[in-house]
Amino acid sequence: MKKSTVKEIKERFDKDVERFSNLETGQVATIDAKISLEVLTEGAKRIQPNAQRVLDIGCGAGNYTLKMLSKIPNLQCTLVDLSRPMLDSALGRVSLHTNQSVRIIQGDIRDVLLEENHFDIILAGAVLHHLRDDKDWETVFKKLFSLLTENGCLMISDLITQETYAINEYTWQRYGEYLESINGKEYRDKVLDYIKKEDSPRSMTYQLDLMKKVGFGTTEILHKNMCFGAFAGIK
Ligand SMILES: C[S@@+](CC[C@H](N)C(=O)[O-])C[C@H]1O[C@@H](n2cnc3c(N)ncnc32)[C@H](O)[C@@H]1O
Repeated sequence: MKKSTVKEIKERFDKDVERFSNLETGQVATIDAKISLEVLTEGAKRIQPNAQRVLDIGCGAGNYTLKMLSKIPNLQCTLVDLSRPMLDSALGRVSLHTNQSVRIIQGDIRDVLLEENHFDIILAGAVLHHLRDDKDWETVFKKLFSLLTENGCLMISDLITQETYAINEYTWQRYGEYLESINGKEYRDKVLDYIKKEDSPRSMTYQLDLMKKVGFGTTEILHKNMCFGAFAGIK
């Protein structure tokens, strides 16, 4: 199936701001969304307790940065997203929770120009699964590595695949069952069809290996449940 273009992805998220602005109900399609949000931001705080700058890529309405600010107040925040309506919502919400600057940048994470050796924490919540081929993944991981300060951390929470066909089938079957249990068969089909069209996730193993390949000294697994995981790289 032909995957969604960046323009199509942008247009879809332009219309989905409300769902991503609600931490309680917005993320039901993500298994353990709240656990991942918690462990990823608490993990970032423990790796970088004196952090000053956070970059949130694919920030949506700012959920990850908001949670990060509840752990480390008054960070300088840079928020990147394809969608202007998402950024507007994120700016409004995040500005209420820091007395430092909040900068929003509309663009594709592949293209936006950002300062190197600048960010202590990079948050990537449910965004990297939009990357496509190996070159795409490698270029973006290299870029994120270059943006981090020494000992800075890249914190990823995302949809993931498995390395083997058998286990991949199993985890996605379980995900289908999970979706059906919360909202019925039609909802399951809708979410799975949409993932087929829009997303191209990679395994956690692939991403941890890629982190090491582009220079990260240490990697950490914080949480995994079927086809969702939270993990990190430390520069
Ligand atoms: C599933 S939402 C997650 C939003 C937020 N991180 C959260 O967890 O609540 C993915 C977001 O990533 C953005 N996005 C997708 N591909 C992107 C890209 N290549 N560059 C920047 N943002 C992107 C979308 O516009 C959308 O707002």
